[in-house]
Amino acid sequence: MPDTTLTARVRADRAGPTRALLTRDRVEWWAVFTLCALPLLALGWWTATGALGVNPIETIVRHLGDWALRLLVITLALTPLRHLTRTARFIRYRRMIGLWAFTYACLHVLAYVVIDIGLHWPTLLSDLTKRPYIMVGMAAFVALIPLAATSTSGMIKRLGGKRWKRLHRLIYPAGALAAAHYFLMVKADITDPMLYISILVLLYAVRLGRWQVGKSV
Ligand code: HEM
Repeated sequence: MPDTTLTARVRADRAGPTRALLTRDRVEWWAVFTLCALPLLALGWWTATGALGVNPIETIVRHLGDWALRLLVITLALTPLRHLTRTARFIRYRRMIGLWAFTYACLHVLAYVVIDIGLHWPTLLSDLTKRPYIMVGMAAFVALIPLAATSTSGMIKRLGGKRWKRLHRLIYPAGALAAAHYFLMVKADITDPMLYISILVLLYAVRLGRWQVGKSV
């Protein structure tokens, strides 16, 4: 016999929207996850169908670098967006998008080291010491490693909120270094790297402004 008491009905009423909300959250989570994975799937598809263009290695390295930078900038934009829209809706995806940015950065570096220079360590060493854009890119990559390594809830607990937050401020220099890496790499048209630099300057200015008036950043 179904329980038709008032308490049971109230409980059912409460459970209904909660379940719907949970389902909506899950759909949204998967939508964000899929959107982040799409550039990688596209790259896989182009590789399988031979659609990488005349310089496949360059296409792979650059595509992965582009998406590492784009997702890094999106991660950095989520907190100012929360203040601007006064909704915490997007902030819950910061960790996921940040981890995707790191994944693309790892694949970008791997593509360069393995496919581009064929694991030739003397070339890597010479690039790291003689080509400024590689040096700066490596600094950006190294800055992202502790962030990815401490991204779990367990690590937040272990480090303590304050220390974890302080460590995660590394994302600001990492973003700046990644944009500088792009800027130093291009030889003629600086439109794209300047676009990233302008967005980052704007985002950092918003944070600096909030920090100066004593608000959380
Ligand atoms: C957070 C780390 C990094 C980010 C976000 C990043 C991002 C980028 C971007 C946006 C580009 C330009 C893509 C385009 O032209 O459309 C690029 C190119 C490149 N990056 Fe990175 N990068 C990072 C780290 C590194 C590291 C550590 C290395 C090497 C050890 C590296 C090697 C290269 C190379 C070889 C190119 C292509 C140069 C060319 O085709 O002439 N990057 N990267």
